Amino acid sequence: MSPSPAADTAPGDLVVDWYSWAARDLPWRTAGVDAWAVLVSEVMLQQTPVARVEPRWREWLHRWPTPADLAAASPGDVIRAWGKLGYPRRAMRLQAAATVIAAEHGNVVPDDVAVLESLPGIGTYTARAVACFGYGQRQPVVDTNVRRVVARLVHGRAEAAAARATDLDDIAALTPADHDRAVRFSVAVMELGALVCVAGTPRCGVCPVRTVCAWRLAGSPPYDGPPKRVQRFAGTDRQVRGRLLDVLRAASDPVQAAELDAVWSDAVQRSRCLDSLLVDGLVVQTDDDRFALPS
Ligand code: ADE
Repeated sequence: MSPSPAADTAPGDLVVDWYSWAARDLPWRTAGVDAWAVLVSEVMLQQTPVARVEPRWREWLHRWPTPADLAAASPGDVIRAWGKLGYPRRAMRLQAAATVIAAEHGNVVPDDVAVLESLPGIGTYTARAVACFGYGQRQPVVDTNVRRVVARLVHGRAEAAAARATDLDDIAALTPADHDRAVRFSVAVMELGALVCVAGTPRCGVCPVRTVCAWRLAGSPPYDGPPKRVQRFAGTDRQVRGRLLDVLRAASDPVQAAELDAVWSDAVQRSRCLDSLLVDGLVVQTDDDRFALPS
């Protein structure tokens, strides 16, 4: 159990102090990691757990140390290097963003949130994460974990509703005034949501803000919102698209349709998924009706 929080310390400062000893040692948080490396990490981490991202992130930066290097790569190599991180359209969008950064921003990741948001595939979260973690700016960085912390700590609700316009204001109100602590707070509150204030059964016994948490003070009421959709994977189009891409990633030459037919028995679903991969530009069809990653 962590020490009892001091009664007169603001919640944001308690979270920063907790982070100083509880944080995971993750490579993209190391001093000297540049904004390009931060951008790559944030895009990879959006829907993929840390343990799976870490080796891919290292490989990517070794291979493509600047945006221009990634911009010059063949899309097929980019999709191959993305491997099984999932949601491979992210890889294409990252390459599209790298192309704009190389061509229009002197190969330097912009430090302005509005400019970052104008890049392909970069939304509210990623733009602020890059400005904060890559450039040391004071920015509210709100992901799912942070929204859950705010729902409990500030609003006394068991789980967060969907993203709300007030999320950024809520988190800004918790942020310490001191610049360096504010920057640390953005990653600290994310870490609190990832390690302690988790979905399901939070670890309140070790939480640095347990004595000021509105949800705990209200008696930890259960979630009473609309039923949540459980994200399944087996049998989804996402699984089928993954299987089709696995075949193409492993092949050095274009493959016949029959090789793709072998990976999924439902022909209607398989063909829908192959079509969607073609539409997304993740797969191309050759003149002799074979299939390949784009070159
Ligand atoms: N550190 C900075 N951003 C992060 C993220 N999205 N997930 C885990 N750790 C991080």
